[in-house]
Amino acid sequence: MKVTVVGAGAVGASCAEYIAIKNFASEVVILDIKEGFAEGKAMDLMQTASLNGFDTKITGITNDYSKTAGSDIAVITSGIPRKPGMTREELIGINAGIVKTVAANLLEHSPNVTLIVVSNPMDTMTYLVHKTTGLPKNRIIGMGGALDSARFKYRLAEALEAPISDVDGMVIGGHSDTGMVPLTAHATRNSIKVSEFLSEERLSQVAEDTKVGGATLTKLLGTSAWYAPGAAVSSLVQAIACDQQKMFPCSVLLEGEYGLNDICIGVPVILGKNGIEKIVKIELTEDEKNKMQQSAEGVRKTNALLEL
Ligand code: LAC
Repeated sequence: MKVTVVGAGAVGASCAEYIAIKNFASEVVILDIKEGFAEGKAMDLMQTASLNGFDTKITGITNDYSKTAGSDIAVITSGIPRKPGMTREELIGINAGIVKTVAANLLEHSPNVTLIVVSNPMDTMTYLVHKTTGLPKNRIIGMGGALDSARFKYRLAEALEAPISDVDGMVIGGHSDTGMVPLTAHATRNSIKVSEFLSEERLSQVAEDTKVGGATLTKLLGTSAWYAPGAAVSSLVQAIACDQQKMFPCSVLLEGEYGLNDICIGVPVILGKNGIEKIVKIELTEDEKNKMQQSAEGVRKTNALLEL
């Protein structure tokens, strides 16, 4: 199993590290345009192998896509991250050109690759990859919901004063400050709905804190987060690489599901060796349906900025 991570920035490096630590891939290639940068990250990570007990071979390369040939999975993290006060949508001008080129380069050397798109604005970048590569929809996966759900669980556990392993919940919709739809009505603690334990106000607060999860970190760190994004990507890569048939919310091209067409947006999917094995249709409450429609409108506005 060969995995390529494009972009040796904080998210890409963190993603490569988690993949290696989980020890399921034989090879991880990190590629970056900055001379020597990916090589340095790869060497540093390889020097943790004996300490962390993994056998994954990590190599770094400067912009030579021939070295990514035969990748089964590739993660696109390239582009610029947001700065405090910026929305993910404001990155579109620069990142669209980068993501389009990266996807084309990857496919030239790995025609059977499954692509995981992380660059922001993620739903629109996933749609761009769909429009420009012609890859089947099961092989284009946008990573946002897995991260947003992890942040939702963190906030739920905090509100419940419970360990995270007690809580379960999912965030669907667009990966943006206003577009996320945390499914508060479905979230549980040990199979009991969290609404049994938390007031409506507290649950709304949890949802709001979840939605601005990335923005909160960007403000604290001065750039966007990397540990949780990297860990979330590694979980998707593992689900595909190990054919886990695991459910995650991911951004995927919809063709009528959830009443939406010609858009990539976060919905629950099953991930396995074919990438997206299935889109899972769940019954949403009226409120969730409305929020999902509003979220889709937001994503469409950003999509309209693409020069396709
Ligand atoms: C975040 C970025 C990766 O939410 O979108 O932290």
